[in-house]
Order: sequence, then structure tokens, then C-alpha cells
Amino acid sequence: MNINDIIFQELKASKKYKYVCEDTLNRIAGWAVERYDPKKAVKAAKNKLHQVYGAYFEKMNLDKIREQMEKLAGIGSPDETVLKATALTIMKHHTSTAERLPFMEQFYRDLFARIGKPRKILDLACGLNPFSVPWMGLEAGVEYFAFDIDTRLMSAINEFFKYLAGPYMARCSDILVSLPQEEVDVVFLLKTLPCLEQQEKGISEKLIKALKAKYVVISFPSKSLTGKAKGMAGHYGRFILGILEKMRLGYFKMEYANEVFYIVGERNDE
Ligand SMILES: C[S@@+](CC[C@H](N)C(=O)[O-])C[C@H]1O[C@@H](n2cnc3c(N)ncnc32)[C@H](O)[C@@H]1O
Repeated sequence: MNINDIIFQELKASKKYKYVCEDTLNRIAGWAVERYDPKKAVKAAKNKLHQVYGAYFEKMNLDKIREQMEKLAGIGSPDETVLKATALTIMKHHTSTAERLPFMEQFYRDLFARIGKPRKILDLACGLNPFSVPWMGLEAGVEYFAFDIDTRLMSAINEFFKYLAGPYMARCSDILVSLPQEEVDVVFLLKTLPCLEQQEKGISEKLIKALKAKYVVISFPSKSLTGKAKGMAGHYGRFILGILEKMRLGYFKMEYANEVFYIVGERNDE
């Protein structure tokens, strides 16, 4: 076994990271081996995983999400009211989605009124966002793919999808290991680019270039968790506009209470 494999095995055996998709564990093991001597590499790999995954998933109680899915299974064929109530309970498990709840329905209505109803959606680094599908007003037959890097979350989402009209599908996929190849109408990249940049500087531009989509919906938080603005919207705005201008891409902007959305793919008409 080479040092990369040894570190991979240690990460895979750890309580905290055993559910992270194997591509990610491999990638982070390689990242650590390149930078640290073998004695320090495991610790460095765990620190990196904490930064890009743990900080998000630690606060998300996946046992509680599992309980919610078991409750649904107990009901057999839950109706829309029950499904929505379950989805709301689940989405409150993480700030990123919880903060979006007050304007979620309005946002999808505004978005699809502007860009038209999509036939295929790809939700990258999706977190809990796929539980908001019942508020998207999607027509029958619309395809929805949701990717992230936690195996438990992907199976909970797939279980939830079984109750919806579909075809919807969630799977483990690390953006930094393989850039998405799916041809779709819309890609959601919600509150994700800063986290990806921490893992690979310059990935945002590379990713936007690689995506095969009519529209890419990119969002950033505009307030911190404590509700303070702290110049976040300006900072992220300069970051994304720098990229879009360099790539000569058009966009329009939609702003809600604590999140700013850049919809890329149209000529800028503001
Ligand atoms: C701040 S959360 C955003 C979640 C969701 N998009 C939302 O706005 O509700 C960032 C997400 O990025 C995911 N993530 C981090 N690195 C990733 C990678 N390399 N490939 C795919 N997903 C990744 C994390 O697991 C986490 O779910």
C-alpha cells in the first residue's frame, strides 16, 4: 500500500469521515501527501475535510433526517401536505437551506418566470436543497439530478424522491474529481463557490466554462449567520463579476433577504 492509500484507509475508518464519498477521500489524501510528511498528512487531511465538509455536515443531524424518512416509510403513501411538512423539518437542519425557506417558493417562481420552465436541472453540491423540489412547481417528466459528497445524504434524498413524480436522482459526485458532463437547462450552484475555491483556487471559472447548461444559477449569502452584512454581498459580487466579465458572460441578478443570485447565460440587461 502506498502512503496515499494508507491515508485514504485512515480517513475511511474515521467515524467523522467514513460517509464522505471515496473520490473525495482519495483526492484529499493526495492533497495532503503532496504537502505534508507522512506523519502530519492524516491530520492535515482531516483538517481540510473539516473545512470543506465537516463544518457543513456536523451541524446537519443525519440521524434525525433518517428518522424523518423512516416516519414517511411508515405512512406508506404520504400526501403532498405530509411530504412538504417533512421536507420543511429536514431543511431546517442546516442554516444554508433554513435561511432560504422564507423566500424559497417566491424565488423559484421568479426564476422560472424569467428563464422559462426547465426540462432538466442539475443541483451541484446540493446539500439539503433537493428537499425544496416540492416548491419548484416542476412539470411532470422534468429531470432533476442532485450531486454532493455524503453517501448518507444522497440515500436520504433518493428515498424522498421516491415519493415525488420524478424522474429525480441523487448521487455522490465530487466536482473537483470529475467536472459534470450532463447537458441540462439549469445548473444550481447555490452558496457553493466559496467552499470549492477553498479546495482549488480558480475552480469557479473552470467549472462555469465546463458546464453544459443554458443557465447557471450562482448564489452567495449576503448576511453572515449572525445576520450581519459585513460587506459579504460586495465581496462575493466582485468575485463573481470579475469571472463573468473575463468570460464575457451575461447575467441578471435576483436579491432576497439574505441571498444574492446571479443567473448566468443571458445578456446583461440591467
Ligand atoms: C454551503 S453548502 C451549500 C449547500 C446547498 N447548495 C445550499 O445552498 O443549500 C456547500 C455544499 O458543498 C458540498 N461540497 C463541498 N465540496 C464539494 C465537492 N468537491 N464536490 C461536490 N460537493 C461539494 C458540501 O458537501 C456542501 O453540501
